[in-house]
Amino acid sequence: MARLQAIKRLSESVYRLTVAAPEIAAKHQPGQFIVLRIDAAGERIPLTIADKNTDAGTIDLIVQAVGKTTRQLVDLPAGADILDLAGPLGLPTQITKLGTVVMIGGGVGAAPLYPIARGFQQIGNKVITILGARNKDLLILPAEFAELSDELILMTDDGSLGEKGLVTHALQKLIDQKIEIKKVVAIGPLIMMKFVTELAGKYGIPTVVSLNSLMIDGTGMCGGCRVRVGGETKFTCVHGPEFDGQQVDFDTLLKRANIYKHEEQCRLEAYLKRGGHG
Ligand SMILES: Cc1cc2nc3c(=O)[nH]c(=O)nc-3n(C[C@H](O)[C@H](O)[C@H](O)COP(=O)(O)OP(=O)(O)OC[C@H]3O[C@@H](n4cnc5c(N)ncnc54)[C@H](O)[C@@H]3O)c2cc1C
Ligand code: FES
Repeated sequence: MARLQAIKRLSESVYRLTVAAPEIAAKHQPGQFIVLRIDAAGERIPLTIADKNTDAGTIDLIVQAVGKTTRQLVDLPAGADILDLAGPLGLPTQITKLGTVVMIGGGVGAAPLYPIARGFQQIGNKVITILGARNKDLLILPAEFAELSDELILMTDDGSLGEKGLVTHALQKLIDQKIEIKKVVAIGPLIMMKFVTELAGKYGIPTVVSLNSLMIDGTGMCGGCRVRVGGETKFTCVHGPEFDGQQVDFDTLLKRANIYKHEEQCRLEAYLKRGGHG
C-alpha cells in the first residue's frame, strides 16, 4: 500500500503525483519505472519515476490520463491509498560523459526524459533539449528543462508555443549547424521515436529510445511487453525500457500497440458511465 501525498494538474490531461515510497526513492536511478495497481479489481500499469525526494521518501510520477486506469489514478484525491506499487523496475540509463547530447521529449515523454537529462547534465555533458507537443497545453516541464539545458528548443504542431513543426525538424536544424552530437535520447510516441531514430541514423548518431510497450507483470514472466530488437525477442520490462533505436523493429511494435484499442475504449466508456467509479 502506498499513499498518494499530493496531486497537481500540469496541463489539460497531464498530472504530477507525489507518492510515499521511501524504499523505491532510495534505490531509483534515471530510466527506471514502477508498476502500480490502484485497487484489487484494477489492472497493473507501468509509469516512469520522473523525480524523487529521498529525504521525504517520496517519488513523483507524471501521468497522462489516456485510458481507464490513468483516468482513475488522476481522479484520486490526495491522501488516497494505492494498493500495489512495485519498483524500481527496468535497467537504469547508461549515463556517461560524451560531449554534446540531444534530449528529445514528445508529449508526456518529457517526464521520463527529465531525470535522464539531469543525469547527463550533472556529469558535465552539454545538453540540448527539444520538447515537442501537439499544442502548448500538452507541452510539459519547459521550466524544468530550461534550468538544466544549455539550449532548449520548443516545438508545437500548431505553432502555439515555440516553433511550428515536429521535433525532427529541430534535430535536422542542429545537424545542419554541424553540431557534433554524440548521442540522441528520444522518448515519446512510438512514431516519433521511429522517425527520430531514422533521421539520426542517417548521420550515424547513436540513438536511445524508451519503449512504452504494453506491460502486465513487469517481471519478464508474462511476455506481454515483448519487442523485436536486433532480430531477437526482448522484454521491455527487464531488458529495457531503453534500447538502441537502430535495432528496434518499430513497425511490429506499432501494430502491437493498437491490439487492444477496442477493449481499452470500452473500459474507458464504462468507467465514465459509472461517473468515475472503479
Ligand atoms: C516503461 C514504461 C514507462 C511509462 N511511463 C509513463 C509515464 O511516466 N507517464 C505516462 O503517462 N505514461 C507512461 N507509460 C505509459 C502508460 O503505462 C500507459 O499510458 C498506461 O498504461 C495507459 O493505461 P490506461 O489503462 O489508462 O489506458 P489504456 O486503456 O491502456 O489505453 C487507452 C488508449 O490510450 C493509448 N495509449 C496508451 N498508452 C499511451 C501513451 N503512452 N501515449 C499515448 N497514447 C497511449 C492506447 O493506445 C489506447 O488507445 C509508460 C509505459 C511504459 C511501458
Ligand atoms: S510485462 Fe510481462 S514480460 Fe514484461
